[in-house]
Amino acid sequence: MRSLIDIVDFSVEELQQLLDTACDIIANPDKYAESCKRKKLATLFFEPSTRTRLSFEAAMWELGGSVIGFSEASSSSAAKGESVADTAKMISCYADIMAMRHPKEGAPYVAAKAATIPVINAGDGGHCHPTQTLADLLTIYREHGHFDGLTIGCCGDLKYGRTVHSLISAMSRYQNVKIVLISPEELKLPDYIKEEVLDKNNMTYVETTSLEEAMPSLDVLYMTRIQRERFDDIAVYERLKDSYILTPEKLVTAKESMRILHPLPRVNEISVKVDEDPRAAYFRQALNGKYMRMALILKLLAEAEQGLQMPEQTDVLVGKLRCENPRCITSCEQELEHVFKKAEGEEGVYRCIYCEAKKHLN
Ligand code: NCD
Repeated sequence: MRSLIDIVDFSVEELQQLLDTACDIIANPDKYAESCKRKKLATLFFEPSTRTRLSFEAAMWELGGSVIGFSEASSSSAAKGESVADTAKMISCYADIMAMRHPKEGAPYVAAKAATIPVINAGDGGHCHPTQTLADLLTIYREHGHFDGLTIGCCGDLKYGRTVHSLISAMSRYQNVKIVLISPEELKLPDYIKEEVLDKNNMTYVETTSLEEAMPSLDVLYMTRIQRERFDDIAVYERLKDSYILTPEKLVTAKESMRILHPLPRVNEISVKVDEDPRAAYFRQALNGKYMRMALILKLLAEAEQGLQMPEQTDVLVGKLRCENPRCITSCEQELEHVFKKAEGEEGVYRCIYCEAKKHLN
């Protein structure tokens, strides 16, 4: 079944169709009020969420459908040791589409391979978060009117911040986009994204530790939370947690047309004093997330009816390499086969198909 696991699963034309559908939903909500009548969305949240889960639920209700699901792993059979694949097969009996958030990277992909209904990745560990990117894209589109030529500053935890990983992948689809990576040394963007997204697409990017330095050049400032739950050493988190705090004073050098985005929740990284600034777009962004999720549900359900399938992975190695990333779904599911895909352009280099961790074939 066609699913959304990574934002690059969709072409730029498909992203535009989703943006157009979302804009049409905003203009004509009544037209869509019964589009998903008798359809059920299952929300499987093995990790905390407010916006993502509730906006999925609101999206399905506004399409005339209904919602089943759970919001914590402890209330599901995962607590009894059920595998992701078994959960996905079983949910396929009860719902027409599912959204899954999971702390292990690659879990929604495992679910998509086992399910007979579309699966939406609602965030997998520190890996990716494609539906947040849909919200980000609609926000940039509604605020700026275009993507080409924009300078996007990503600030905060670029190492574990899955929203940034997916946003950068999406922006690589557009022309002349410049990325400014603003983070402490310890939280820099992972190499695999630099190599396989930024370098591969010849994107211009710079890395800096200074938000002040970057500010005047930016069209979008994408602030992120330092991801406490992903740190092995809490002392490192304590040292880094207040690395960047956006205040009205720091915005003095920013363009009038710059827009501040944040996937939320915020902790300290944006002062509430910034909320009144017309450039603060993060609450509008949260609303846009609902419209894009409506558009996405419509698209995937229509494609399921047409019988569209996920493309098969080619150039894969099965069982020859082992993924050692402790955050990968393979680290906790013994029977899951370790599968690697040849990295483009790098001789002898393979990446785990679940979490994208790199391995060399000796
Ligand atoms: C983000 C996430 O879960 O990755 N939140 C969200 O989905 N809106 C960002 C975060 O938790 O910091």
